[in-house]
Amino acid sequence: MASTSNVRAPWRDLLASHMAQTPGYEFTVATVGQDENKRPVPRVRTCGYRGFFPELEIHPKSQEEMKQQVKDGGNPPTYESDMFCFTTDTRMEKLGQLESSGNDIEAVFWLKDLMTQWRVKGKAFAIGDPTEDAEHEKISRSELEDFLRVKQNFNGPIEEWTWERAVTKYFANHSPLARGSFKNPAPGQPRSQLPSDPSLRMGQKVNDLHDPVARGNFRVVVIRPDVVERLDLSSQEDMRRWIWVLNSRGDHYGQYTWTETEVWP
Ligand SMILES: Cc1cc2nc3c(=O)[nH]c(=O)nc-3n(C[C@H](O)[C@H](O)[C@H](O)COP(=O)(O)O)c2cc1C
Repeated sequence: MASTSNVRAPWRDLLASHMAQTPGYEFTVATVGQDENKRPVPRVRTCGYRGFFPELEIHPKSQEEMKQQVKDGGNPPTYESDMFCFTTDTRMEKLGQLESSGNDIEAVFWLKDLMTQWRVKGKAFAIGDPTEDAEHEKISRSELEDFLRVKQNFNGPIEEWTWERAVTKYFANHSPLARGSFKNPAPGQPRSQLPSDPSLRMGQKVNDLHDPVARGNFRVVVIRPDVVERLDLSSQEDMRRWIWVLNSRGDHYGQYTWTETEVWP
């Protein structure tokens, strides 16, 4: 059951305004993997930042496709959250690493124009398995749902909102060629090995928002932050650093509070 409270995290609007002033939208995402001796090891990669789940402004062309292919053109604007998201291919390594490490994640943005680093620690959950009854899909949804907030100006019925349409919007937001990347041969496998499945090829364009192969591999990863840190290097004489920590769980996210501490940089 999602929260009906509208208390935003105290850092959210500032971070959003920094993002709005930033031309690039990539961030660095770290997970915990295992080496060959099963020792925990850090793993990092660059990912495209997709904003706060589930709000996403999509290209008019993609909006048109949503209108044609998705019931009511997609979800009503029911929810917002303080959770960051990115999209990925389920065949890459990061999802297995999340699963085997208790979903731990850390992400960092370096906004050079603002001389500011934002660092986020938390748990991440992947959604978008077309088999909606799949156990991991049910777990992810239940871990995230309390952290959705009904938007202040939304008065419609909240039951109309579905996870499936939320994920479809992120898929639609990709170009047909980018959607086709989810039908590439399996990432990380030797290029000398041709896939036995003929539907897996490079350079395909996908216009069907429910293409079963591409959607089978496509996931939205949602990061539920516990600790958020802002490092402001804009003044060399007086560099500043703030840390916000999520306090212990209430029943709903709306009951959560954050403690802000300014620390020495
Ligand atoms: C600019 C840029 C943007 C990227 N965006 C994403 C992304 O949004 N999602 C993603 O899974 N990988 C993205 N990648 C690729 C990842 O960095 C990485 O190579 C891939 O996810 C495989 O990592 P893994 O096997 O550790 O999961 C991007 C790479 C670059 C250079």
